[in-house]
Amino acid sequence: MCGIVGVTAADSSVFQGKTIGRVLRELLKMLEYRGYDSVGIAVISDGNIVVRKGKGKIDEVSDKLKFDEITGLTGIGHTRWATHGVPNDTNAHPHKDCEGSIALVHNGIIKNFSEIKKKLAGKGHVFKSDTDTEVIAHLLEDKLSDHNRKTFLTALKEVLEELEGSYALAILYSRDGERIYFAKKLSPLIIGVGNRVNLVASDIPALLEYTSTIIPLKDGEYGWISPDKIVIKYGDELVDYKARIKTVDWSIENVSKAGYPHFMLKEIYEQPLALRETFYGLQSDPNLEYIVERLVESDKVYITGAGTSFHAGLVFKYFLSKIGGRASLPFISSEYMQVTEEVGENDVLIAISQSGETIDTLTAVRSFKITGGKVIAVSNVLESAIPRESDFAIYMRAGPEIGVAATKTYLTQVITLSYIAIQYGYKSGRLTSSEYRDLIEKLSYAPQLTESSIRYSEPFAKMYSKDLKYKKSMYILGRGLGSILALEAALKVKEIDYIHAEAYPAGESKHGPIALVEKGFPVFFLYTLNHRAELVGNMKEMHSRDGEIYVSTPDQEAIRDSIRDARVIPVPIYDNEILEPYAHIPAYQLLSYYIAVEKGYDPDKPRNLAKTVTVE
Ligand code: M6R
Repeated sequence: MCGIVGVTAADSSVFQGKTIGRVLRELLKMLEYRGYDSVGIAVISDGNIVVRKGKGKIDEVSDKLKFDEITGLTGIGHTRWATHGVPNDTNAHPHKDCEGSIALVHNGIIKNFSEIKKKLAGKGHVFKSDTDTEVIAHLLEDKLSDHNRKTFLTALKEVLEELEGSYALAILYSRDGERIYFAKKLSPLIIGVGNRVNLVASDIPALLEYTSTIIPLKDGEYGWISPDKIVIKYGDELVDYKARIKTVDWSIENVSKAGYPHFMLKEIYEQPLALRETFYGLQSDPNLEYIVERLVESDKVYITGAGTSFHAGLVFKYFLSKIGGRASLPFISSEYMQVTEEVGENDVLIAISQSGETIDTLTAVRSFKITGGKVIAVSNVLESAIPRESDFAIYMRAGPEIGVAATKTYLTQVITLSYIAIQYGYKSGRLTSSEYRDLIEKLSYAPQLTESSIRYSEPFAKMYSKDLKYKKSMYILGRGLGSILALEAALKVKEIDYIHAEAYPAGESKHGPIALVEKGFPVFFLYTLNHRAELVGNMKEMHSRDGEIYVSTPDQEAIRDSIRDARVIPVPIYDNEILEPYAHIPAYQLLSYYIAVEKGYDPDKPRNLAKTVTVE
């Protein structure tokens, strides 16, 4: 978590009339989803380093501390999600050394910071904050004072050798002028290659205003950028990065709100387009055939991911079994230790991560690879760590997702994985070619169905949110695929609305959960294609305990005939289970969105959360 940026320009015309303070503030806004409890910048100004930082959101702090007034050509910035040290002005980044000639920003965790701090304090270094990051600035100062002739890059290399943990670093050293030093291990860091300007950032959106040409850095790399030069080193070797330069097709429009009040709503609305792009992209993906072959030939198929990505993995498990007749073993990434002992060389892991940087999933991938198993990554971010470290990668084409809640990336994960399951069914001989063609054709309706689902359900989501904002707890129930989709619906309500929402298989609810149901307790049902009679039975059980029944349904009549006062959320009609996610999920995304708005919460930046979780 945390977002870092650095920019260094040849002259002020690059910034088109803006000060560097303003530029850094805007770049940080693009990374605000990575953390938002404090913010800070450091700029080289007349040979000195000027630091402004404080607790609060980017706009609040930059207005208060007048970031826009700071001039210069080279600077770094940070938006924080606190790990070591509470969010306050002192713990905000950048952090400086004693002399004030070094300032740095950091994303990651330095595990051995206490020992380093103790050692440096013994040598007279004075620490101001409780953070792990501050020790890096002092350790650099210490290394530089060892022998006066040492270059900053040599000192940095020695510091990196001492640090245990994870880091993406951007560093200013006032004696070296218009230069930004950087280093990466386990936390993401990307160089942006511009015209008379170079940048570093935790993620691509922060680069797009100035360039779409990038160099994703690898673990262990460090170096520096100036406006017209990039130096990357690994150990003592200079890295030849030319062949690694890539162009991304994301644009600055993708990462602005484009008139929507929140990114989350914009991203919900972008789903039909994202699904279309992803679906047609899959049809021409050169890796897909080989990936499906590997799956067919494998001994065991494991599936992993965290949060929403894990939920998409469960949908894959369902369709791989239903369509492909193949059993698989899903596990939550952070629980990889439960399974990796049993993995063999001919096993395959499907690792799902929209960001491609989630540390739990990355760790699961690494442990799996040690056993000799093959890893297939499903990600949304080109060249991010998980696809890079996997044997094969399939990319969704959702475009950047800024809202912390996964919306369009969930449905694009689901369509990607459903497509793979259908391919598997055909390749393994379980589907005839006409069944195969029929299923692919059905799946091609997903974008259209999503569009209708948004249109049908939005007014009802808005209306019900006015009552639901007062609730403390709710159930979301389904059967079969519905019980898997319910998990994602409940996660949205929890993370955005801070309401306890529990997903449960409807049939299982009688074995305990129903005890909580009393007058006014909301119970949601996904009225999916199969098991409709049993679902109505479960609704009646909840209704007769005075539960408030909500149903997402393509058949309003059927529900009202059974329970007159049920609150329906209409979703479009569909005729195949493969389309179920696109009919029902947008309704719950919108519901969670409008409840948050009703409660006055910011749905894009839910408390305690960050978009990319790079701590274990
Ligand atoms: O980038 P990833 O897909 O690996 O992220 C995994 C989870 O952190 C993520 O899906 C999280 O659960 C979302 N905020 C849920 O909306």
